[in-house]
Amino acid sequence: MSQPASSSSTPANGNDSSWKTGLRPPPKDIRPQTEDVTATKGLEFEDMKLHRELLMGIFEAGFERPSPIQEEAIPIALTRRDVLARAKNGTGKTAAFVIPSLQQVDVTKPKIQALLLVPTRELALQTAQVCKILGKHMGLQVMVTTGGTTLKDDILRLSEIVHVLVGTPGRILDLAGKGVADLSECPVFVMDEADKLLSPEFAPVMEQLLSFLPAERQVMLFSATFPMIVKDFKDKHMRSPHEINLMDELTLRGVTQYYAYVEERQKVHCLNTLFSKLQINQSIIFCNSTNRVELLAKKVTELGYSCFYSHAKMLQSHRNRVFHDFRNGVCRNLVCSDLLTRGIDIQAVNVVINFDFPKNSETYLHRIGRSGRFGHLGLAINLVTYEDRFNLYKIEQELGTEIQPIPQTIDRGLYVAPSGGEDSQVQRAPQQPQRQQPQQQQGQAAQQQKPQPTGTPVQRAGPPHAAPNQQQYIQQQQMARPGGQQPAYRGGVPVAR
Ligand SMILES: Nc1ncnc2c1ncn2[C@@H]1O[C@H](COP(=O)(O)OP(=O)(O)OP(=O)(O)O)[C@@H](O)[C@H]1O
Ligand SMILES: [Mg+2]
Repeated sequence: MSQPASSSSTPANGNDSSWKTGLRPPPKDIRPQTEDVTATKGLEFEDMKLHRELLMGIFEAGFERPSPIQEEAIPIALTRRDVLARAKNGTGKTAAFVIPSLQQVDVTKPKIQALLLVPTRELALQTAQVCKILGKHMGLQVMVTTGGTTLKDDILRLSEIVHVLVGTPGRILDLAGKGVADLSECPVFVMDEADKLLSPEFAPVMEQLLSFLPAERQVMLFSATFPMIVKDFKDKHMRSPHEINLMDELTLRGVTQYYAYVEERQKVHCLNTLFSKLQINQSIIFCNSTNRVELLAKKVTELGYSCFYSHAKMLQSHRNRVFHDFRNGVCRNLVCSDLLTRGIDIQAVNVVINFDFPKNSETYLHRIGRSGRFGHLGLAINLVTYEDRFNLYKIEQELGTEIQPIPQTIDRGLYVAPSGGEDSQVQRAPQQPQRQQPQQQQGQAAQQQKPQPTGTPVQRAGPPHAAPNQQQYIQQQQMARPGGQQPAYRGGVPVAR
């Protein structure tokens, strides 16, 4: 058995709270939250015997108390037992594995000590960012590595100290196989979106990766969905894992689900109507193929709405720019494929639209879970065709949920957070969308329309603002940036704009 992690960090003392005074947490998020995140037993982060430096990062991230999954998973993970945890989308699984992973790092040791695997590049960037934020005061080194970037840069980076390695499986296997990423003293192995990482696409890579780790290791699996596929892995590679299942019911309490029964050729018109009627702060619109993503994004732009798109066949640097800028509220709507279905956390998204209805219930659940993050309110609207009708029924059955027909008017209270008594702002929003001419003052329009970072919508998506062609937008951004082709992220840190 390996020794308990020793760090140069100071254990937090329950009584002395003077260290808290200098912290700068973000403004308090006052939006209402559902029991999905509030139904806790009352454990505090300070009860978890975490290093003070880690606690500082947690509080500075604005986390006041653990969510149910954090309360369940963190204490047991700190005992180094294997963990298999299932909890709803947006309820804080990332911190539930990042916190115990960081706590176990000994920063005086120049070795990779935690390997965090995720299925997509965007999710890797986001997860590495969480590690950096929570570990900000610990003096630890986090590296993110994914496909679609230069291998040479990663090799160079690994010649320096890395304590926590976050990435997608293929690239990490490449680096481990070349002997560049030394995982021989890495005791923590985490699989986020574990069921996806154990799908046939990734499973052989996961098996190989495990062979680079020491025999004494802690394996932690997290997801909102655990199909049977996970059982084989559990039996083969996990030692009496502690199993947590916080999903008595599967769907989020804060997310209201509707369907609109349409013909294929009516879909764009229907979307247009939704845009003009809904109080969208930011929306994610899912299509079932990359081709349809691009076609729809073009249509949405032609309709005059601001829209980005992303899919797996795009250049990685473009994917990064879109992800980064959408997160920062540059644009209200994002059309994408299932690339961004899992794990992506954008608090300002209050509406998800399945322009194409998904084929299985896991995909459906993860997609609609992009709204209603951390127990907030959200809306999921499904455009359903005659061909989708059996799938709709099947998904409802499998998830034990009811997707209602869309009503004439949707109560804003279902998906729009009250904005601290400032509701009048919403009322003042123009009733009719007006097509904006390109020569109009785009900057001004864009500013007026900018989504609220905490997800409190103040405007309709209706009045379209600057809706430039995405390619042009990316080119402009690259030209405006010294060095032209720079990616939006460097080592997981968004480039300041
Ligand atoms: N204890 C906490 N207090 C306040 N906010 C939190 C806390 N824990 C997590 N959050 C926030 O909740 C949001 C959702 O967290 P996270 O992305 O980890 O969810 P998840 O369970 O991994 O969801 P998914 O299943 O979609 O991947 C994030 O914005 C995160 O910052
Ligand atoms: Mg997650």
